[in-house]
Amino acid sequence: MPKAKAVAPSNIAIVKYWGKRDDRLNLPATSSISITLSKLKTEVSVSFDEKIQKDEVLVEGRPATENAYKRVVAFLDVIRSKTNLPLFARVESFSNFPVSSGLASSASTFAALTLAATKAACASFTLQELARIARLGSGSAPRSLLGGAVEAVAGVLDDGSDFEVRQILPQERVFFAVVVVVVDAKEKSVSSRDGMNLCKRTSPYYERWLEYNQGLVSTAKSALLNGDMQTVGEIAEASCFAMHACCLSANPPLLYFAEPTVSVIQEVFDMRKEGIQVYVTIDAGPHPVLILPFDFVPKAVERISNLKGVVRVIVERAGEGAKIL
Ligand code: DP6
Repeated sequence: MPKAKAVAPSNIAIVKYWGKRDDRLNLPATSSISITLSKLKTEVSVSFDEKIQKDEVLVEGRPATENAYKRVVAFLDVIRSKTNLPLFARVESFSNFPVSSGLASSASTFAALTLAATKAACASFTLQELARIARLGSGSAPRSLLGGAVEAVAGVLDDGSDFEVRQILPQERVFFAVVVVVVDAKEKSVSSRDGMNLCKRTSPYYERWLEYNQGLVSTAKSALLNGDMQTVGEIAEASCFAMHACCLSANPPLLYFAEPTVSVIQEVFDMRKEGIQVYVTIDAGPHPVLILPFDFVPKAVERISNLKGVVRVIVERAGEGAKIL
């Protein structure tokens, strides 16, 4: 019974991926840049088994929801077709962060699943082949294959064969901390996938958003390489708020922020006026993520922890990419 286990970290995008140029191939419309995190991780084990009649998927020890099950099975179908393996699989995933809190888990899950499933199928692929496979599971997953600061290069070819991941900085050269602020809020009601689709179909700003966001990529890369905190922070906020503006302009409007999300944003702006160099970014959910020089972490954490609706603050830094266990 071919079996393997892998672990992958979560990542937080500084230049967001929000929009697809091909839904079937799950090809991003723009490149994106993220920081691979060091603590928030998902472990996935895969065993192909000739004795089972359908795929079995357990998340945190419980059967996956119907949507999650379908997504994993579609992904396993890709692995089966690429490796000519005619067996069903048992997949188990565990995250060391509460998946139900709305913190992103699809990136870490599909990065770990890519490594575990290809290994269990006894197939070997190059990094870029693995990135293209992981992307079929989730567009943010390829970035978690590498550590540090990572770019997912969208490419231009119709078949996605020029989609790539590239490390911009190894983890030890990432010069800032990442602080995940878990706020008191209901689980997100619109998935990233559905949100992107809605924006593409209905937002008057969608095309402009893509053009603007793609334009941020090269400046963000130079700023990362030059240790330029201010530019990295300003770009992270620019990409984040333009993405959320695009969401708000969709029909129906898509609002991912909850009340405490707005309080945290306001507090970040206030701290900056006082000379505390801290920036904020938010994915498709209510939890803000701070980006700041290590020296400012204690002060910023104290200020943010005191806000109403903040339930947990996780001090993170850049970490290594996914690996087989
Ligand atoms: C806001 O990777 O979850 O976190 O490809 O449809 O699975 P799918 O989307 P997903 O989208 C991530 C969106 C984001 C921004 C980002 O991580 O770049």
